[in-house]
Amino acid sequence: MQRQNETATRTGGDIHTLEAVALAATRAAAVASYAWVGRHDQKAADAAATAAMREALAGAPGRGTVVIGEGEKDDAPMLFNGEVVGTGNGPDFDIAVDPLEGTSFCARDLPGALATIAFGAPGSFWSPGPGFYMDKIVVPPRAKDVIDLDDPPERTLAKVAQALGKQVGELRVVIMDKPRHKELIARVARAGAAVQTPAGGDVGGSLAVLLPTLDVDLLIGVGGTPEGVMTAAAVRALGGGMLGRLAPQRPEEAEAIRAAGMSLDRVYDCDELVGGDAFFVATGVSGGPLAGRPRESDGTTIAESLLISRGEIRHITHTTFDKISG
Ligand code: FBP
Repeated sequence: MQRQNETATRTGGDIHTLEAVALAATRAAAVASYAWVGRHDQKAADAAATAAMREALAGAPGRGTVVIGEGEKDDAPMLFNGEVVGTGNGPDFDIAVDPLEGTSFCARDLPGALATIAFGAPGSFWSPGPGFYMDKIVVPPRAKDVIDLDDPPERTLAKVAQALGKQVGELRVVIMDKPRHKELIARVARAGAAVQTPAGGDVGGSLAVLLPTLDVDLLIGVGGTPEGVMTAAAVRALGGGMLGRLAPQRPEEAEAIRAAGMSLDRVYDCDELVGGDAFFVATGVSGGPLAGRPRESDGTTIAESLLISRGEIRHITHTTFDKISG
C-alpha cells in the first residue's frame, strides 16, 4: 500500500485513475480500429484508432502532454508531439503513444495489432528527436545485466542463455522479418537458437519476452523509436533489461539526428529511455497471444487489455454495453 502511495506521489496524481484513463483510451482505440480489421486500409484504421484515443484522453483528469507520438515516420494520422490532452484539472503527466501498433496486421487481419500507450511522470520519456529507428535488445529480468549492444549476436545468445540457465539451442528469439535483418536472422539461426520472424510489431515481440507465460527469451533488431520508448516503459515497470541506440535507416535521417546534436553511438539503457515512474497499457485489435480481439456477445462488447505497472502484469477483460460500430 505504501508503495502505491509513493508511486502516486511521483506521478503527481492518483495512479489508479491514470491507469483507468489509459485503459479506456486503448480500449476505445482498439474497438474503433477493429472495424477496419481485414479492410486493407491502414490509414483508415490508424485514423479511427487515433480519433477514438484522442476523444478518450480529452476527459483525462489533469494535463497530459504527448511527448512521443507516432505517425511522422509513416505519415500516418497521429497524436502529435506537444499535443496536450485532458481536462487540465489534476496531475501533469507525459504520454508516449501508438494508437495502432501493427497497422498492417490490422489491415490484413493478421494477429498482433495492438492499441498502445504509456504514461509517465513529466520528463520521464527520452526524446528520439528526428530519429525514427533504433537498434534494440530486450530481455527478461534475469538477463538484464549481461546485454551489450556492441556484442555480436552469437555472444549475446551465449550470455543470455547462461543468465537464463538455458542452452543456446533452447533460446527463442524474436527478430522482425525485415531486409535489414537478413544477416542477423541467419546468424542467430546458425548459432542454434529458434528464431520467430514476425513481419513487424516489435512492441508485441518485446511484451512476449516480458510475459512469463509466452515462450520467448530475447528480442533483437532495429525498429521504431516510439515503439522503443513505449516498450521501455513496460520493461522498466517489470525490471527487465533493454538497451537502445539510434539506428537511422536513411542518410537524411542520420543527417537530421546529427544536426539535432544527438549521438549515433550513444547506447541508452532502459532507465534512460524511461527515466521516471511509468506504466504501459495495450488492448488487442486483431487478436494474438497477448490480447484477444474485440468481440460482441449478448449485446456487450468485450475487449482484452494488458496493464503493465509497478512490477505487475494485469490481464483485463472489459465488458461494456455498447456495440462495435462498423
Ligand atoms: P506501425 O505501428 O506503424 O504499424 O509499426 C509497426 C512496426 O512493425 C513496429 O512494431 C516497428 O517498430 C516498426 O513498425 C518498424 O518499422 P518498419 O516497418 O518501417 O521497419
